[in-house]
Amino acid sequence: MPAPRPGRVVIAEPELRARVAALGAEIARGYAAEPPVLVGVLQGAFLFMADLVRAMPIALATDFVRLESYGGGRTSSGHVRLTADLSTPIEGRDVVVVEDIVDTGRTVAALRRALEARGPRSLRVCALCDKLERRQVDVRLDWVGFTIPNVFVVGYGFDYAGLYRNLPHVVALEDA
Ligand code: IMP
Ligand code: MG
Repeated sequence: MPAPRPGRVVIAEPELRARVAALGAEIARGYAAEPPVLVGVLQGAFLFMADLVRAMPIALATDFVRLESYGGGRTSSGHVRLTADLSTPIEGRDVVVVEDIVDTGRTVAALRRALEARGPRSLRVCALCDKLERRQVDVRLDWVGFTIPNVFVVGYGFDYAGLYRNLPHVVALEDA
């Protein structure tokens, strides 16, 4: 079977740029007093995180976790593992989780439970993309960049089997 390849553009680069800038400004407005900790979920959120924090004109800290919920393919194992942890204590801090895409909701639900157990003052979630129609677990998303249809996407951080994260747009993965 031929390998699937990046196909039509789902979110073009100018749309990404405009939406991420707006999200950054909106999130920043809620955190004037104490610097929040933005927690990026590796690897998928690395580009989004980099653009988002540059759109937030406030004092903030950044850290990352690595979670694995997917094997190399397109289907979720439904099993989420924290494979790299924060180096920042978040007790009493305002935390904003920065996630690439919410699909079944399992990853965000598991991460929220893990971080809430550490006693942050607040914990909010920002996801670049939301595949709402695929949701299996009810999770609250405080900010969503784009609600997208049920298509597997790559680019702007999203991968298929480790590839295509460097594409400037979010594109659909299509069977050749
Ligand atoms: P969930 O646990 O089912 O919500 O899956 C969320 C994770 O699956 C995301 O953090 C992504 O890493 C991955 N994922 C879900 N949909 C896509 C997609 O369309 N492209 C690339 N990765 C995806
Ligand atoms: Mg991910």
